[in-house]
Amino acid sequence: MDHRTSRILVTGSADGLGRAAAHSLLSAGHEVVVHARSHERAAGLAPLLERGAGIVVGDFTDRAAVRRIAAELNDAKPLDAVIHNAGVWSGPAVMPVNIIAPYLLTALLRAPRRLVYLSSGSHFEGRAHPSLAGIDWQGEHAGSYADSKLFVTALAAAVSRLRPRVLSNAVDPGWVPTKMGGSQAPDDLELGHRTQEWLATSDDAQAMTSGGYWYHRRRRQPHRAVHDRAFQDRLVQALADETGASL
Ligand SMILES: NC(=O)c1ccc[n+]([C@@H]2O[C@H](COP(=O)([O-])OP(=O)(O)OC[C@H]3O[C@@H](n4cnc5c(N)ncnc54)[C@H](OP(=O)(O)O)[C@@H]3O)[C@@H](O)[C@H]2O)c1
Repeated sequence: MDHRTSRILVTGSADGLGRAAAHSLLSAGHEVVVHARSHERAAGLAPLLERGAGIVVGDFTDRAAVRRIAAELNDAKPLDAVIHNAGVWSGPAVMPVNIIAPYLLTALLRAPRRLVYLSSGSHFEGRAHPSLAGIDWQGEHAGSYADSKLFVTALAAAVSRLRPRVLSNAVDPGWVPTKMGGSQAPDDLELGHRTQEWLATSDDAQAMTSGGYWYHRRRRQPHRAVHDRAFQDRLVQALADETGASL
């Protein structure tokens, strides 16, 4: 059992795995900051706010909103952990929401010691583009979900290497029945958020390791590009060039 209280931001917590994680972290006695894309979507978070959660609001397709959220959080009590959970399956928002927003928050947020990035089994289908120059980071066209999840999994590994004092991990939550997963998804919704919570808060020796790709609290081998330093470096450079923010 862990009795220490942590302060944790869960992005994309208006629904699905993010909402479930925020709910159970609050129940475990942690301080939680929830996040919704708009005030309309935030309205559904009232039960969590009544239980003491803080909130930030902003659409992750809007980089200015992501920067404003980072500034708001940096002016508040420091976070111990961030669960980078917000995600979309298809459409032009894929790259902005699934990789640009988590990258920007990673670059801009003051010193959370634990970072958890939502990956997916789909990342194995992603392409370790030899050049990242042509990637549509701005989301002008439909983006590849698989590529975005390969990128965010490699980002988690790169952060682990570049920031040795930070515990940075990626999690495949399984194919679970959320708005994204669909009602027929075969995996366990409960297990789908436990690993993120454990990595964000637990003092178990295993949870305090970094650079992992996890599925249901077990480390798995990710796509081989994830631990390829040359690919990590290209990715981090492309994201820095694109956003003007460096890690
Ligand atoms: N479900 C699965 O089977 C599965 C499998 C592998 C990986 N994942 C990953 O797990 C994470 C959570 O997915 P989920 O299944 O819980 O999906 P979900 O139910 O669709 O929830 C996604 C969350 O992200 C938020 N979001 C989407 N676009 C946003 C934007 N532009 N700005 C701010 N927030 C935005 C959503 O807000 P709204 O509610 O307002 O749309 C929602 O809170 C994602 O990163 C996903 O890729 C899921």
